[in-house]
Amino acid sequence: IGDVIGLTPALGWNSWNAFGLTVNDQKARVAAKTMTDKLSAHGWSYVNLDDGWEAPQRLASGEITPNQKFPDMKGLTDYVHSLGLKMGIYSSPGPRTCGGYLGSWQHEDQDAKTYGDWGIDYLKYDWCSYGEIAPAHPSLDEFKKPYQVMRASLNKIPRDIMFSFCQYGMGDVWKWGAEVGGNSWRSTGDIEDTWQSMSTIGFNQVADGPYAQPGHFNDPDMLVVGKVGWGDSQRNSRLSPDEQYTHISLWSLLSAPLLIGCDMGKLDRFTLNLLTNDEVIAIDQDALGKEAHQEVKKENYQIWMKDLEDGGKAVGVFNTSDKYQTITLKTSENGLKGYTKIRDVWQQKYLIAAGNNLTVKVAPHGVVLVKLSK
Ligand code: GLA
Repeated sequence: IGDVIGLTPALGWNSWNAFGLTVNDQKARVAAKTMTDKLSAHGWSYVNLDDGWEAPQRLASGEITPNQKFPDMKGLTDYVHSLGLKMGIYSSPGPRTCGGYLGSWQHEDQDAKTYGDWGIDYLKYDWCSYGEIAPAHPSLDEFKKPYQVMRASLNKIPRDIMFSFCQYGMGDVWKWGAEVGGNSWRSTGDIEDTWQSMSTIGFNQVADGPYAQPGHFNDPDMLVVGKVGWGDSQRNSRLSPDEQYTHISLWSLLSAPLLIGCDMGKLDRFTLNLLTNDEVIAIDQDALGKEAHQEVKKENYQIWMKDLEDGGKAVGVFNTSDKYQTITLKTSENGLKGYTKIRDVWQQKYLIAAGNNLTVKVAPHGVVLVKLSK
């Protein structure tokens, strides 16, 4: 593996889906405090600021500073660290970010140094406005370039920073993300809190699957659970409870970074339970770092399987229809021969197969997620 950080996918929070550009110091502190009180025992650790923290102008020296919503970035980072958590930040390789704030264009060394001085642990690096600098139809080299430049800048500072590309899968990023030194890379466009968006993204993670490995993961975007939507439009995720089980199950099978996209101050019991099931999180965090593959794809259901480090297999049986379905998993096929112990990880109980057939009733848009062992 060599000298790589982030051997398992990041577990944390990101400000974007809950607050958009209205994120501020206070909201980040609430997220951090909630994470320590309720989530960190289950492995959650990153508090990631997305776009909207940057001042309108750089200092005369060219240095980037936060805007008034973040009076003291180093102070905020120290607070996050004092809770035993890690701090993330956002930028874009162009002159402007997607939200129209300052990007890192031609200030990459300076910005990497500033992040290091603040104690930043994670950088989400977008693409926006770099498109104006790159040729109209970027070649593969052009897609790689801004990430190579920032990678080189991060390598110059005496701090390990997780590097997450946010360039929407352009140029089949999964094929070169690891080589360019990304710990994760977005493989899709932006997610929304609808079944249509979440299921289209999740069930299409096929071509990129074989490229996931320890330290380098595909990122199908952040979790749309809990209270999402910006400012006055804040609402509960429009995903039904069963769709949310599908969301977390599928993302865990995909070895995706799990970045909670909700207002952490308003974490309800359902969302908390969804995010603190250790047996489910263990599937996401499995040390083998493999991604599940789509074993069965039918019109009304899909079965995804992931190899685990202990020799076990995680299997998701997904009902993609809007009616209840009884689905049978054949444990004599699909490489499952000899796997006789079947554990339902959401319910945390063992299931009994009838001979070689595990028959489960799956809710509309829902899932049964099991771990099989010999
Ligand atoms: C892009 C990204 C989002 C978010 C915004 C910020 O749209 O895909 O995740 O970071 O930019 O402006």
